[in-house]
Amino acid sequence: MRPLAVAADARTILEVGSESGLSSRVLLNYAAKVAGHLYSVDTHPGFDTDALQAEFPDSGTFIRGMSLDVIPSLPTLDLALLDGDHNWFTVYHELRELERIHDNAVMPVIALHDSDWPYGRRDLYYDPETVPTEYRHPYSPAGLLLPDAKVAREGGINQGMNNGVVEGGARNGVMTAIEDYLSDSPHQWKILHLPMYFGVTILIPEARLQARPQLREYADWLEKQLHGSELIALGERLRLAETIQAQALHEELRSARARIRELEAQLTVNMQAAPE
Ligand SMILES: C[S@@+](CC[C@H](N)C(=O)[O-])C[C@H]1O[C@@H](n2cnc3c(N)ncnc32)[C@H](O)[C@@H]1O
Repeated sequence: MRPLAVAADARTILEVGSESGLSSRVLLNYAAKVAGHLYSVDTHPGFDTDALQAEFPDSGTFIRGMSLDVIPSLPTLDLALLDGDHNWFTVYHELRELERIHDNAVMPVIALHDSDWPYGRRDLYYDPETVPTEYRHPYSPAGLLLPDAKVAREGGINQGMNNGVVEGGARNGVMTAIEDYLSDSPHQWKILHLPMYFGVTILIPEARLQARPQLREYADWLEKQLHGSELIALGERLRLAETIQAQALHEELRSARARIRELEAQLTVNMQAAPE
């Protein structure tokens, strides 16, 4: 995302979904260098936003809230990274809200994460209550399994999250939201789809490409890298299979450790109760 920001000469940046603040820090470092500003939005940031704000007093604003409530109050942007709630309703309306605040201005470059499996064609709800019922698909905490993306009875990726039970169909998933937005958008876009790391889709307004040769050069370079995209997609599929395996092992280790703690506590009690 940093080279994309550089190529676009992005000064005003939005990040939706900061989570642990890793990407926020990269973007803040970049913003500080170009006298730019990062707006970082998360409903539940998992890091000390005050500490990061203190480190970058002029380069960042951290907003705890829902993207759809925050975007309408933002200034026009050069770059928007959308990686918050991965469901059709949220992503489609984030894109529409971005369009609304750019009324007469050129749209930002927009990068959307999780546009491939598991949430490209399947909703996830961080907080289901925030999505109107008519847009909510049935969901379950069961993990998701490759290859045909069925909900797993046990194991599977992202167990415990509110994973849509059904994959595909109308108004379901991040990629479907992007396609629906694009089919109504009055703007011309260059679309780059990176089929890796859960999928990244980058939308670049044609107007920005025309205004900035460095951005066109970067977009062309990126496009060239995607010529082997079937191989990249195969690499992603293998990575996902290993991620599913790793999450299962992680869960096994977590419950084995909990059981060891339980047995150790029981042993201590038994030893204390035993006669000398
Ligand atoms: C997948 S994580 C983001 C990861 C982060 N971008 C990174 O690269 O490390 C999604 C984050 O979005 C936040 N989130 C969920 N729904 C949101 C919403 N409606 N508005 C803003 N943030 C939201 C969650 O709290 C979570 O921290």
